[in-house]
Amino acid sequence: MSSLKKLTDKGGNSVYAHCIDGHYFPPFPLDVEFATHLENIKKMNIRDDDVIIVGYAKSGTHWMWEVAGMLVAGSTDYIRQLKEHQFMESKEVAVLDALTSPRLLNTHMAFRFLPSEVVSKRTKVIYLLRNPKDVAVSLYHHVWGMNKDNWVYNGTWDDFLDAYLQGNVWCGSWFDSVLDWEKTRPARSEMPVFTLHYEDMKKDPLSNVQRLSEFLGAPASSEFCQRVVEACSFKKLKQAKDNMEENFLRDIWKPGCEGFYRKGEVGDWKNWFTVAQNERFDAVYGEKMKHSKLEMQFE
Ligand code: A3P
Repeated sequence: MSSLKKLTDKGGNSVYAHCIDGHYFPPFPLDVEFATHLENIKKMNIRDDDVIIVGYAKSGTHWMWEVAGMLVAGSTDYIRQLKEHQFMESKEVAVLDALTSPRLLNTHMAFRFLPSEVVSKRTKVIYLLRNPKDVAVSLYHHVWGMNKDNWVYNGTWDDFLDAYLQGNVWCGSWFDSVLDWEKTRPARSEMPVFTLHYEDMKKDPLSNVQRLSEFLGAPASSEFCQRVVEACSFKKLKQAKDNMEENFLRDIWKPGCEGFYRKGEVGDWKNWFTVAQNERFDAVYGEKMKHSKLEMQFE
């Protein structure tokens, strides 16, 4: 039975999602049923030098994928691939198995969907966080901007924000996602995890890139790290990826939409949230996060 389901917002606008076990995933077309794909991912072989980037959608995963890729390669050449080639939700295990090492796998999935071997092999994870107001704005632009088959959504920002607060969007609830990661910490206590907030990376990219190079076992000079920071600045990365010949995702956006590289700033939510929306958001945030130790940076 297909796992595709329509998520409908309060304005009556729908978007398709795979619904598995109460979790929502974008409607990736695969040769196997999505539930089977998730089972295959759970059982897939992990290599000793695999690194996995994990984070809720729109937390800056494309940025970090490129930064980590450059550090591992020891070169500031842009990766001649898109992050999506190593994206676990949308690539069948046979495709992931065929990738050459070292792999930089990446996912927005909860810990329990990751391959079982990541625990026994103590796989390195880069875990990304971003404040949920900027994530909401970024995800709205992403979802609204797509223009392909099952991927079209025409709701307003207000309709979307309501759906987001309820977790009725691709990748489900931001709150559930980050709380799940926090809650499952004991299960991955043996795993090396590098946690990075988008806002910290914006504030001080050089020292974070240096720390990351050490975490990855590829310690680099501060000159090299500075070159990585510059090559991966918002403007340069956007230009490089938009112009890439292999960019098979160029045509998935509505005309005029910015795609994965939209604005790249902290605090853009202030241009979108009304006072009422912000009050509602803060109330939901206060309730959902009241037992969490996570601290988000909204400015
Ligand atoms: P905005 O929509 O707020 O601009 P992801 O890669 O996880 O989908 O996240 C996308 C967000 O990261 C987008 O946010 C995008 O612009 C931002 N981003 C991408 N590259 C960036 C960079 N080099 N520097 C800062 N932000 C970047």
